Amino acid sequence: MLLCRTIGEIREFVRQARSRGQTVGFVPTMGYFHAGHLTLMRRAKESCDVVVVSVFVNPLQFGPREDYARYPRDLERDLALAREAGVDAVFHPSVAEMYPPGFATHVEVAGLTECLCGASRPGHFRGVTTVVTKLFNIVQPDKAFFGQKDAQQALVIRRMVQDLNMPLEIVAVPTVREFDGLAMSSRNVYLSPAERQAALVIPRSLEAARRAFAAGERDGGRLADLVRDELAQVPGAEVDYVEIRSLPDLKPVDKLDGPALLALAVRLGGTRLIDNTVLGGP
Ligand code: PAJ
Repeated sequence: MLLCRTIGEIREFVRQARSRGQTVGFVPTMGYFHAGHLTLMRRAKESCDVVVVSVFVNPLQFGPREDYARYPRDLERDLALAREAGVDAVFHPSVAEMYPPGFATHVEVAGLTECLCGASRPGHFRGVTTVVTKLFNIVQPDKAFFGQKDAQQALVIRRMVQDLNMPLEIVAVPTVREFDGLAMSSRNVYLSPAERQAALVIPRSLEAARRAFAAGERDGGRLADLVRDELAQVPGAEVDYVEIRSLPDLKPVDKLDGPALLALAVRLGGTRLIDNTVLGGP
């Protein structure tokens, strides 16, 4: 497995793969791998000849009061895990390599980015779409893999790829969970043992909504209230949002008559956790 720290190096790696007629799969990440990241890499390896993974904690997508500085990082461990998952090259650029002095261009998707995490994290998706555009232009993959854990991010990227005619396929991969249902996240390491236990209210609340939906509840407001009631059982859990939105355009829905995204963000101590489920999906 090759480690590339410059744009020139990863471009050369991809150029050589292409000259052999190989297809290229790409998994963009911010590192500190867990089984969710590794599942994306394995999926990429199944359907592409070579797999490139980027590890870059992108300062552009963090707000001034967010966790950019303390975001967990462990490159040596990430490299070992990527190698085991069959990754062929890791692209790990510096901030200066990605954003040299004078950098002035941003990519912004309107509409989809104005609700859910976009409303509580201003500028976040602009940072994501800008770095992902740069990474797509650098790696020029045939397919890129994104987790359903960040459902809004995957929708925003799909929209951008379609709108800007980017020549690649976006593949969404189901959320990977811990044994007890908590969605895997690099940020789970911030949780104290008590907060980690309390966090189980999140998958529990989604399950309560799924059960009510299965029993015939189609009122978006009542389903969201059910989730809020469940979350309120844990005193430390502070709700950022609980919303039900249409797919794929994330419009508010009152009555569910097609697949809808139930998404939430909850703060536990200093840690913001997100999760979601699709109601009425195929
Ligand atoms: P990061 O949080 O490292 O996530 C990288 C990819 O892993 C994303 O596509 C995310 O949805 C996926 N992922 C995270 N947790 C997952 C889980 N439990 N199950 C399945 N997939 C999971 O998302 C980012 O980085 C950044 O915003 C990035 C796209 C790299 C741009 O900087």
